[in-house]
Amino acid sequence: MTDKLDMNKAPGHQVLAAAGKKALRPGGFGATEKLLEWADFHADQTVLEFASSFGYSAISLAKRYGVHVVGVEQNPDSVARAEANIAKSGLAKQVEIFQGDILHLEQIAQISEQQFDYVLAEAILTMQSDAAKATLLKGIYNRLKPGGQLLIHELRVEGEQIDEIRRDLSATIRVNACPLSTNGWSHLVQETGLIIENLDTGPMMLLNPYRILKEEGILALLTMAWRMLTRPALRRRILSMRATFVRHSSNLGYIVLAARKPM
Ligand SMILES: C[S@@+](CC[C@H](N)C(=O)[O-])C[C@H]1O[C@@H](n2cnc3c(N)ncnc32)[C@H](O)[C@@H]1O
Repeated sequence: MTDKLDMNKAPGHQVLAAAGKKALRPGGFGATEKLLEWADFHADQTVLEFASSFGYSAISLAKRYGVHVVGVEQNPDSVARAEANIAKSGLAKQVEIFQGDILHLEQIAQISEQQFDYVLAEAILTMQSDAAKATLLKGIYNRLKPGGQLLIHELRVEGEQIDEIRRDLSATIRVNACPLSTNGWSHLVQETGLIIENLDTGPMMLLNPYRILKEEGILALLTMAWRMLTRPALRRRILSMRATFVRHSSNLGYIVLAARKPM
């Protein structure tokens, strides 16, 4: 996958994955852990994961909690990598990743009418326009069983300059980046009829070297450093993203939120 990447145009998450980064969410694995603690997973419950990328979260959920996970991922290369990871984990009976668009779940025949105990969305709603976010939330509501839970982990932006920060982020990440404020995310979720049960916020962690060392290990950090040293185009992209995150650090962060569909 990395060989085909055009470093001038590739979306930020693909650039980071090519560098060897595994956690592609704003609060890192630490924020994900907090989110998962709010869920009360039982074996044999079902989870729909939006944008499952290489399948790391889906595999981890299946292994830790015995749940069945269905992931939907648009990029065929990522689906292929996820399938290889699932095969390696021996969890093929519990984890399936389908290639498709989260905005068109009805086109995935295997799950066209299925409802789930949980919907998990990390670092994906931020990439949608505000109109698409509202459509997705309505879809999520319909996909949850009564009493089911939505778990999200997304980018948060606060302050007066939201539009300018969104423009700067989109320019450096090279995908649509439309984070909301804490109030904006809460409002979006509540408007669909879901009831927020837990919410937490924190600073942006994506390219914090200490956090990478702590969560992904010394080998991941050294791999990233080596690839940046030896691949100038990769280095330029990552340093540009980091500079934007640092410039707006007082306004940027993550949000994790758990909300329930009424019975
Ligand atoms: C920032 S990554 C998030 C990946 C993962 N959730 C995580 O936290 O590591 C974005 C992923 O979303 C996928 N994606 C983007 N738009 C999508 C869509 N409309 N439907 C399904 N997947 C999508 C991309 O292919 C990419 O793998």
